[in-house]
Amino acid sequence: MLGHDTPCHVPAPRVSGDRVVLGNGRELWLRSIRPEDAKPIDGAFGLLRPEEVRLRYLHMIKALSPDYLHRLTHPVRGRDCVLVAAEPYPPGEALIGAVARLMIDPPTAGESDRQAEFAILVSHFVAGYGLGRLLMKRLIDRARRRRLTRIYGDVLESNRAMLVLARRLGFRIDHETPGDGIARVVLELPAKRTPAPANRPRRSRAS
Ligand SMILES: CC(C)(COP(=O)(O)OP(=O)(O)OC[C@H]1O[C@@H](n2cnc3c(N)ncnc32)[C@H](O)[C@@H]1OP(=O)(O)O)[C@@H](O)C(=O)NCCC(=O)NCCS
Repeated sequence: MLGHDTPCHVPAPRVSGDRVVLGNGRELWLRSIRPEDAKPIDGAFGLLRPEEVRLRYLHMIKALSPDYLHRLTHPVRGRDCVLVAAEPYPPGEALIGAVARLMIDPPTAGESDRQAEFAILVSHFVAGYGLGRLLMKRLIDRARRRRLTRIYGDVLESNRAMLVLARRLGFRIDHETPGDGIARVVLELPAKRTPAPANRPRRSRAS
């Protein structure tokens, strides 16, 4: 399990983000993705197991297209949020162990709901130490801060790890098209009501 989830207090000017130490002693930094991460992510893709790729993308893909990598590493402000768990080196030099992404759906005419789809991959090199849970919690925090009404993700029904993780975080599991082997996990994010300040004198209308 993780040892820390707090910003590093030792001087480390060349790396930004939050330092985490996994249960096996490996140190990683949680930070927003940077354009320089494209090459390390592309390189690390070849080290993933076919099953990890299938679970993440819901089918097999052999490589990440340049267009996909560009969009992943250039999140649109206000629409996308992409977090990575990276080695403690500057972006471009650091290997990336995990990527978690939130993409806000385009607004639907006449609907005030704002929802976003998440996707996550924690590579087997660093899986099982709590990173998935931590990254998902951060995506949920971001979604709340952006006042989204729900987040959802499509998960293979055989993906026990993600379904367990989603359930533990409060997602419900929907089977939208029975028989297609894909479950949609959905977390509703009800707006927090701001309590009215107590004992605040009412301002009388100016007459
Ligand atoms: C699913 C995934 C994100 C989990 O990441 P992780 O860092 O290994 O998960 P964590 O260590 O944070 O564990 C989270 C919870 O899931 C449970 N879990 C993890 N792996 C599990 C497994 N193989 N079987 C059952 N439960 C499992 C853990 O017990 C833990 O629960 P707890 O916090 O109550 O103890 C990771 O396995 C992954 O990226 N898989 C491939 C891609 C994928 O499936 N993406 C999801 C679709 S977008």
